[in-house]
Amino acid sequence: MSSGDQPASPELAPYTPNFLRRLLRGLGSWLNLLSVWDFRIPLGSVQFLGLNFFLVNEPALVRRLMVDEVEAFPKHPYTLWMLEPLIGRGVFSVNGQEWAKQRVLVDQALQVAQLRRVFPQMQAACGASMERLGGAVGPMGQEVAVEMGEEMTLYTADVIVRTILSKALEPGEAAEIFVAFGRYQKRAGRALMLRFLRLPQGALQRSLAAHAAPIRAWIADAVDERLQQPFPGQHNDLLAALIAARDPQTGARFDRDALVDQVCVLFLAGHETSASALAMATYLLSRFPLAQQRLHLEVEAIQQGRSARGQDPAAPLSIDDLRQLPYGLALFSETLRLYPPLSFFIREAQGTTALAESRCPMRSLVTISPWVIQRHEHHWSDPNGFRPERFLADTACPQEKQWAKDAFLPFGLGPRKCPGSAFAFQEALLLLAELVRRYELLPEPGHQPDLVARLTLRSRNGVRVRLKGRP
Ligand code: HEM
Repeated sequence: MSSGDQPASPELAPYTPNFLRRLLRGLGSWLNLLSVWDFRIPLGSVQFLGLNFFLVNEPALVRRLMVDEVEAFPKHPYTLWMLEPLIGRGVFSVNGQEWAKQRVLVDQALQVAQLRRVFPQMQAACGASMERLGGAVGPMGQEVAVEMGEEMTLYTADVIVRTILSKALEPGEAAEIFVAFGRYQKRAGRALMLRFLRLPQGALQRSLAAHAAPIRAWIADAVDERLQQPFPGQHNDLLAALIAARDPQTGARFDRDALVDQVCVLFLAGHETSASALAMATYLLSRFPLAQQRLHLEVEAIQQGRSARGQDPAAPLSIDDLRQLPYGLALFSETLRLYPPLSFFIREAQGTTALAESRCPMRSLVTISPWVIQRHEHHWSDPNGFRPERFLADTACPQEKQWAKDAFLPFGLGPRKCPGSAFAFQEALLLLAELVRRYELLPEPGHQPDLVARLTLRSRNGVRVRLKGRP
């Protein structure tokens, strides 16, 4: 699929009606479940070992499932058991009333005003990342290959630790906790495929729990330490915001165990996803110099504006500066279109119904894949090409504006839509702007990310980019 000037994407397998073969391929990466055909049809369905599987690509049908009839298609129970050892019964994987009660409180913790309060923590993490890169690249003019997959994982992990707990990530902790996260991801992705093959749930979950234990213990210790302080809600961080959050109707709040679950959710949902997208954004910048130049010009304009106002042009970018990056915003959106960090959502039909012309029996597993929809040939012109302009208000054609509304769902849709999207854009724009301000990003000859989708989309062989200090 990847050719000429098109950015990396895995070769798609030819269509096979043999679903067992597809599942076995899916053990390595969920993208291997797909074939060329899936990018041409509005709806796919298959029956395997008594379970009905659907892949829904048609935007109106996707809206029905994720917005209009969300209770008829809740998150699949497999989402809960796959993640329960790590996030307990946190907001990400539960349904119904249990979910609604938690979501009110999580929304309060992530509201826009809160993002302003945690911005200094993000700036500090970005500064630490620039220092690490500065150490690796060395003197001006030197050009060095950097593993951006790793660096972006460190950056987003540092952002999440600082913004949730108000402390910096110690190098030792980073190695232990975030490697354990990576391992969990890999095992959980494989466990899901093995579950489809009818392997017993208990054994799979016990093995996942062993991998989750050190992560949960570390997070539980941090929550307990905070709760023992005299004023645990008086910090400028997300844990304080979770502690302070109250249901406006009932006054209910999170107890200690629920706090541990929600912090685990924010760690999981908030760092791997952003790391995945940021790493791919740096890859795209290195591959598309004109796009990089446009972003650099936007950053330069901010610096020139500061000089004209007698301010320090070299000071770190502020939260208001990030609003002056419309092209940066479009570039990150196009990154999320091509490389959605969560590439598959799975839901369960609560009753027998019809999907388009097909009968969808009760308990069917219904998949919505941003990866497929955002590269579907019915929805996007040049679907595998990199064109940030399609997300720019003044250059996108009316049809592109429509698809950006109907066929773009990297953060999901409807009531379960990601509450962290503004947070994600803020940390991404900050990092990308500070990066191009200091460095020219160049492609690493012969390197092409080898993408695999498990819980999140990652590159098996890393994301290598060459950095060259700007004068
Ligand atoms: C580029 C980065 C991110 C992407 C692409 C992303 C994507 C998503 C998607 C697609 C969902 C919904 C999944 C579904 O419907 O099955 C989701 C849910 C969620 N995300 Fe994000 N996310 C990102 C960053 C963040 C950040 C930074 C946070 C928090 C700091 C966060 C917190 C959450 C939470 C708590 C949920 C669960 C919401 C619920 O179920 O009601 N995410 N995210």
